[in-house]
Amino acid sequence: MAFIKHIITERSIARILELGGGFGFGTIRLADISQADIISIEIDHDRCDMAKKQVEAAHYSARVQVIEGDALTIDPLPLGKFGLIIIDAAKTKYQRLFEHYAPILENGGVMLSDNVLFRGQVQHPETILSRNRRQLVQKITRYNEWLTHLEHYETTFYDIGDGIAVSIKKE
Ligand SMILES: C[S@@+](CC[C@H](N)C(=O)[O-])C[C@H]1O[C@@H](n2cnc3c(N)ncnc32)[C@H](O)[C@@H]1O
Repeated sequence: MAFIKHIITERSIARILELGGGFGFGTIRLADISQADIISIEIDHDRCDMAKKQVEAAHYSARVQVIEGDALTIDPLPLGKFGLIIIDAAKTKYQRLFEHYAPILENGGVMLSDNVLFRGQVQHPETILSRNRRQLVQKITRYNEWLTHLEHYETTFYDIGDGIAVSIKKE
């Protein structure tokens, strides 16, 4: 969060979109550390319900909106532009989510992908025992390679938490 706070402050980010809001813990933290308007999208009904209650209890309803739905089927254009978009949903869908929401990222804005090093397993796939986990890590590795070569974006990987990729949309 300290890392994200730095991005928000340094870039004076006024609007944040979170893809995969979970129970709303991260959403509330984002509201705590910023003055930004926040939209959070969560596919799971119960998690979404809890997130909405959390936002209300924290008195953030005026600037935080929780939307229930599949982030991949929601039309992004009516949401308007964002200075920061955080991808924290199903890891197998990161590239599709990136492509789906890229049109509403401001020029100079940040697309932040969370968990892209997956507990060190992306750097050390030889340590993975389970086949499913190996396939997931391969997907994330492919996503990271795709990010590295993506036109119109400059991506830097940070070994913080489970790994964060910061992709800045070139002006
Ligand atoms: C790692 S959790 C999110 C944690 C949350 N961002 C936080 O910081 O507390 C991932 C969430 O993404 C949600 N998710 C998965 N696929 C999704 C999709 N296509 N659209 C919206 N949410 C999705 C899951 O239901 C899950 O709650």
